[in-house]
Amino acid sequence: MWQCIPVVRRQFPRWKDFGPLLARPPRPSSRRERKLSWDASIWDLRARAQRRAPKAVFDYVDGAAHDEVSLARSRDLFRNLEFQPRVLHDVSNVETSTSLLGAEIAFPFGFAPTGFTRMMHHEGESAVARVAQRTGIPYCLSTMGTTTPEGVAEAAPDADKWFQLYVWSDRAVSQDLADRARDSGFRTLVLTVDLPVGGDRRKDARNGLSIPPNLRIKTIVDMARHPAWWWDLFTTPPLTFASLSSTEGTVADAVDELFDASLNYADLEWLVGYWDGPVVVKGVQTVEDAVRCVDSGAAGVVLSNHGGRQLDRTTVPLRLVHPTREALSDRAAVMVDGGVTNGADIVAAVALGADACLVGRAYLYGLMAGGEDGVQRATDILTADIVRTMQLLGVTTLKELNPDMVRVP
Ligand SMILES: Cc1cc2nc3c(=O)[nH]c(=O)nc-3n(C[C@H](O)[C@H](O)[C@H](O)COP(=O)(O)O)c2cc1C
Repeated sequence: MWQCIPVVRRQFPRWKDFGPLLARPPRPSSRRERKLSWDASIWDLRARAQRRAPKAVFDYVDGAAHDEVSLARSRDLFRNLEFQPRVLHDVSNVETSTSLLGAEIAFPFGFAPTGFTRMMHHEGESAVARVAQRTGIPYCLSTMGTTTPEGVAEAAPDADKWFQLYVWSDRAVSQDLADRARDSGFRTLVLTVDLPVGGDRRKDARNGLSIPPNLRIKTIVDMARHPAWWWDLFTTPPLTFASLSSTEGTVADAVDELFDASLNYADLEWLVGYWDGPVVVKGVQTVEDAVRCVDSGAAGVVLSNHGGRQLDRTTVPLRLVHPTREALSDRAAVMVDGGVTNGADIVAAVALGADACLVGRAYLYGLMAGGEDGVQRATDILTADIVRTMQLLGVTTLKELNPDMVRVP
């Protein structure tokens, strides 16, 4: 039997039907913000950063040590994990805040310490600290920073400010730096311990990345391709380490020359006694060391291989989260970093037992892509992703997250 199929009747296009499709969404206030609003992921910001910054600068951020295996493995482990969501739970209201080292933070992540930040964009550390203040997350200034502790304190007086310390062969210098940080309102001291000597950063060596930037023929050609970056460099205060005495050569050369390779647990115990607030040890890579750091007085550890920039092919820090939490229970804060490129990564780390993640390159790509607006964009991407991932997992608070929700291959 043949059936008569009704034919859709066409009509003449009417303005009232397609007019609304042409309505403009609210416009961001500046051209820079408008461009950044097209970037939907950290990878989009990375691509914009690569176009904007000179090659040596981009490679300094993007690269890692040796064959860059650690960095790739950290990102792969996040990519390959499996979530196991719960369904039919009311997730209309989600609460992302948590307590970390005695302070309330709005999301379970903070900005990791990164050296030479004004090289990525002249707005540098102050811009990053301001975004941290607005978002309600911690900001950690590096010893290798290009803005002083006093400068960061002025830019973001109400941010939860942490100071990352490398220990000098000349201990008086470290002590003086810690004093300046404390006097500027920095609450937490982060002792980085995975850098007894500089890692083998091959891209920096090939690019001749040095302090200050070296004007070779290659550099001058690069200037022509990135005029805005060079204009910013020459029209703002000179790019130097704000807390280091003058040094020359690559970043690794500076590390080898200045920092103390004999640093040990007795130094940690001394520092815990010296500093008024919490001391966190960053760069811990075994459960045994995490326990020993806490036994020595640390209030927390950051499981980290320096974003793959030091010893290559160490254990992926995310793998250490669950066993470290089991070993430490509630005795100390457990943080993790390396390879975080979206908010779902942060949620996964918290589910496995971390109190929070630190992110490094994710905000630096934003900074290179568009200064403070770029850091804000990176942060908005991460925070929106945290909320969405929690809703899709069927939880409304961070406490409800648990290791059963994440399968790590
Ligand atoms: C450009 C750059 C500079 C860094 N400088 C420092 C530093 O001065 N002190 C430190 O403890 N860690 C430093 N790190 C490591 C970060 O604090 C963090 O451990 C790492 O970036 C985390 O990995 P991710 O970039 O994949 O998020 C640096 C990382 C990058 C990318």
